[in-house]
Amino acid sequence: MTSIIERGAATRPIVPPPARKPGFFGSSTGQKAVMAVTGAVLVLFLAGHMAGNLKTFAGATAFNEYAAWLREVGYPALPKRAVLTLVEVVLVAAVGLHLWSAVALARRAARARPVRYARRRRSQAGGYVVHIMRWGGLTIALFVIYHLLDLTFGVANPAGPAATPYARVVAGFQHWYVTLVYTLAVVMVGLHLRHGLWSAFQTLGLGRHRKALQAGAVLVSAGLVAGFLSVPYAVLIGVVR
Ligand code: HEM
Repeated sequence: MTSIIERGAATRPIVPPPARKPGFFGSSTGQKAVMAVTGAVLVLFLAGHMAGNLKTFAGATAFNEYAAWLREVGYPALPKRAVLTLVEVVLVAAVGLHLWSAVALARRAARARPVRYARRRRSQAGGYVVHIMRWGGLTIALFVIYHLLDLTFGVANPAGPAATPYARVVAGFQHWYVTLVYTLAVVMVGLHLRHGLWSAFQTLGLGRHRKALQAGAVLVSAGLVAGFLSVPYAVLIGVVR
């Protein structure tokens, strides 16, 4: 007996609808570009933030003045906090788009991978990178929430919300467990950045300079990690007090 579907198929050939061409942001090139541009914005922020943190070594007055200046850049031509608010909006947008492109690219990779071989083919190195990027990214996001509560709002800081930014920095990092949390998060940022830079270099078609670019990615990431961690450890050992 012929089923309705078979009979239908015999008389009316099924023609698949023409595939819609994905727009720029639906293409892997577009998604990789979004990831690279937002990644670059975040790296620029991190480099500026790390350099600003080194002001801690110039003492309480210099650091507190720097923190106050951040809120007043452009004043009185612009309202107070205008530039800082713009930076915050750009940062939130960059983080959101970075995450969106990461999810879109991961879904694309999962679709392209033959399911049957997924387990066997996944190399040790591939598994490690996926872990660092996926769980590392989540860890960094959770850290930023804690970090804002700690040093921006002061509600999770031993010195409290009324203390100056310098007092908060010193009060927090005196505790080994606070320094440990920051160490783990900053090292995660470094590992995430190292892989991100290397991927961006490959996307740009610079894969043939592999050794030099890998070394460059390690150097930039290690420099950032060392710069960030210099402050908590200087407080922990009493150089900054
Ligand atoms: C040991 C490392 C770090 C130290 C000592 C540090 C210090 C600080 C301080 C003192 C502030 C508050 C500034 C103020 O309110 O005047 C701040 C804000 C901030 N930090 Fe960090 N930071 C560190 C690492 C990081 C990392 C790794 C990230 C990102 C992954 C980060 C992201 C931010 C953000 C987003 C803000 C808020 C900026 C704003 O007010 O708009 N920080 N940090």
